[in-house]
Amino acid sequence: MATLRFDRHRRLRQTANLRAMVRETHLHVDDLIYPIFVVEEKGVKREVPSMPGIYQFSLDRLNEEMDEVVQLGIKSVIVFGVPAEKDEVGSQAYCEHGIVQQAIRQIKANYPDIIVIADTCLCEYTSHGHCGVIENEQVLNDPSLELLVKTAVSQAQAGADIIAPSNMMDGFVAAIRQGLDEAGFTHVPIMSYAIKYASAFYGPFRDAADSTPQFGDRKTYQMDPANRLEAFREAESDVREGADFLMVKPSLAYLDIIRDMKNHFHLPLVAYNVSGEYSMVKAAAQNGWINEKEIVMEMLTGMKRAGADLIITYFAKDVARWLNE
Ligand code: PBG
Repeated sequence: MATLRFDRHRRLRQTANLRAMVRETHLHVDDLIYPIFVVEEKGVKREVPSMPGIYQFSLDRLNEEMDEVVQLGIKSVIVFGVPAEKDEVGSQAYCEHGIVQQAIRQIKANYPDIIVIADTCLCEYTSHGHCGVIENEQVLNDPSLELLVKTAVSQAQAGADIIAPSNMMDGFVAAIRQGLDEAGFTHVPIMSYAIKYASAFYGPFRDAADSTPQFGDRKTYQMDPANRLEAFREAESDVREGADFLMVKPSLAYLDIIRDMKNHFHLPLVAYNVSGEYSMVKAAAQNGWINEKEIVMEMLTGMKRAGADLIITYFAKDVARWLNE
């Protein structure tokens, strides 16, 4: 018989140690950013119905969660405020004593080494649930920028280490950079939700943050899921305007975009493993249909392999625990 010639890929897969030796991608606890929802009221630790294991906390119970985060070795959280009072212009977003400003102060006072990222948006704070100022049912771009700048500056004043604008108004990075600089916060980085698609995967988050738009949708400001070139245009603008990090959101259905951004831009790249991605896995796991741990590790490893340097994920505490096992 003539010699059959072929490659033996299986040589490097024979044992666990050999596989570990040639493994190309590693998840690390330093990659993880954990989202935290804070509410006004007292004594609250309320599970989000569509996100098992994720809670809204009032300030008096926030340290319970933060103690756990710190103990697990997680170094960074992203904070979302859910105010008791909402109005047309989202005043609570930029109020000195707003819920998110208070939460940031409290976390920085008690856990000075934790990196506190502030989500800078208006939708949790506006009565209509849109991310900007409304006139005739339209979201106005430039007037919204002024409010976003006020929000970012108030968050920096409260001690936020990183400002993460997620509102998708044009020029938000330029406006916020200028506003921060003028207020003396030249040292505060901007983590731009540069590439944020108008996605159905945000559904459960809107339960957690009480931020469902009361009319219409976000398609005039968030991106069309069908578009790739537009992601380059968005990222180019944000890099030019002074972003320090770029984010792609959601993650699972957009791994190609993560890879594209990694290949073309040189800023740290963040993937947001969003609420719907979390809830799908949780629901299937609760039914016993999938192995939660293996699925989550595979998903997040896939995001890193696609090019993400950092991952914002509701699974952060679980992953930290699994990595420590
Ligand atoms: C605020 C914001 C949203 C998310 C993060 N920041 C919601 C939205 O745009 O509707 C979604 C996060 C998630 O789904 O986990 N604009």
